[in-house]
Amino acid sequence: MLGEKSAVAVGSVAAGAFDQVERRVRRLCQRFAANLPFHGWHHVHFVRTKAGAFARANGSDPAVVETAALVHDLNYIVKRNSDAAEGREIRMRILAAAGVAEPVAEWIDDIVVEAEISTRHRDISKEAQALSDADTLFKALPVTPVMLAHRYLSENGITLGQLANKIVGEQRGKHDEGFYFYSPQAKAMYSHWASANLELWQCVVEALDDPSVGELLDAVNAQ
Ligand SMILES: [Fe+2]
Repeated sequence: MLGEKSAVAVGSVAAGAFDQVERRVRRLCQRFAANLPFHGWHHVHFVRTKAGAFARANGSDPAVVETAALVHDLNYIVKRNSDAAEGREIRMRILAAAGVAEPVAEWIDDIVVEAEISTRHRDISKEAQALSDADTLFKALPVTPVMLAHRYLSENGITLGQLANKIVGEQRGKHDEGFYFYSPQAKAMYSHWASANLELWQCVVEALDDPSVGELLDAVNAQ
């Protein structure tokens, strides 16, 4: 069972190995920066920092969670608009090269897949909860739709309608069922941001039903 793994059972990530993973991922993000306007180092660094704080608060292993955060979006380097699982090969290669023991690397890969927003559920492991809360917080930040959503469209080659439907489809149920965030602190601090964000994207879905809005966007895109 994924949730039964722990640092006591399989070990953790030593400081030297962590630094190696960080260096390798940062270098990759810089090399492929043109392909990662949304999921580049700025995103990875934010998620890693917040995931570490959530891990310290929920009693999971911060080194394991922060390492998972560093490697959680490598799939976007491998393939545009892909799932976390598509990053497994490069993830395992980087972890091995950095000196992370194989059982710990497998655990980290499990955490990344467990925390994926499209499939996560109420009972994921504490480590996956910390990673999920950090990644979900990035999505719910009020600055994200304003400053970064258009970057998501260009990075992944999708339309505004596809993104709006994806966000509402993946996030609305989790929000309404009470596990949009797992951490009580995150729930208290950020739930109103999450609600406003989902409301905004629901409004985008509705607006795109109006043919005049479609014409407006076509005209903007043709400029
Ligand atoms: Fe992410």
